[in-house]
Amino acid sequence: MKNVRKPEGKKGEEVLERMNKNHTPVSLWALSHLNIEDNAHVLDIGCGGGINLERLHKLSPNGKTVGIDYSSTSVKKSIDFNKDYVEEGKISVIEANVQNIPLEDNSIDIATAFETVYFWPDIVNSFREVRRVLKDDGLFMIVLTTNGDKDNLYEDLKKQVELEVYDDEELFSLLKDAGFIELTAFIKVHDTKKEHIRSFVDGSFNEIIIDDNFVDDVDDGHHMAPEWLCVVAKK
Ligand SMILES: C[S@@+](CC[C@H](N)C(=O)[O-])C[C@H]1O[C@@H](n2cnc3c(N)ncnc32)[C@H](O)[C@@H]1O
Repeated sequence: MKNVRKPEGKKGEEVLERMNKNHTPVSLWALSHLNIEDNAHVLDIGCGGGINLERLHKLSPNGKTVGIDYSSTSVKKSIDFNKDYVEEGKISVIEANVQNIPLEDNSIDIATAFETVYFWPDIVNSFREVRRVLKDDGLFMIVLTTNGDKDNLYEDLKKQVELEVYDDEELFSLLKDAGFIELTAFIKVHDTKKEHIRSFVDGSFNEIIIDDNFVDDVDDGHHMAPEWLCVVAKK
């Protein structure tokens, strides 16, 4: 199970291949909420097996896509997965911890974090570090296959691997502490097929509920948690 937190070796590579496939529905759903300019400079943090680097590059083909991951196995896998784009200089992948991102201040338009903030240490300072590399008005998108753990579904997993399961309210509070100003949470409720959109803008909170039209091609009818969560924070 520690391969979910920091993939290592052959077993780690297998886990990364599975994650590329299994995280596809939530990743595509989350990406459908982002408007990415075709020349955007994008950073994917905890890039894992690298499939989202390819997706982000395709959305910003005239920009630059950078992945970071603190696992050398993930870095290798992401480079292998995107071999041609890496050779063309369109995608680069760096071994680094989110706590110390090797990029300049104000250099990134959009930062993404798919299924990874559960594992980040010192979370507010990690979010501050993401904010540092974002341009003014840059966006940080956090994607999770669960919105908190109200049903204690993650209790067993927590015994095997160190992780923190956040809900939208907690993430809003942590992101505000890190200096983000405009926050939006998209919550996909599987049972009701509704999407709840909660926003915190100019000091006021708002919620709307809409029909959820996202077609999950890989959906086998089973989701571990009742809700998916995507939070977009503006610097
Ligand atoms: C569950 S995997 C998700 C991988 C990929 N984003 C996806 O959605 O399939 C978590 C990834 O985050 C990386 N990671 C965890 N903590 C990290 C940290 N502090 N800094 C950088 N990467 C981290 C792990 O090495 C792993 O590759």
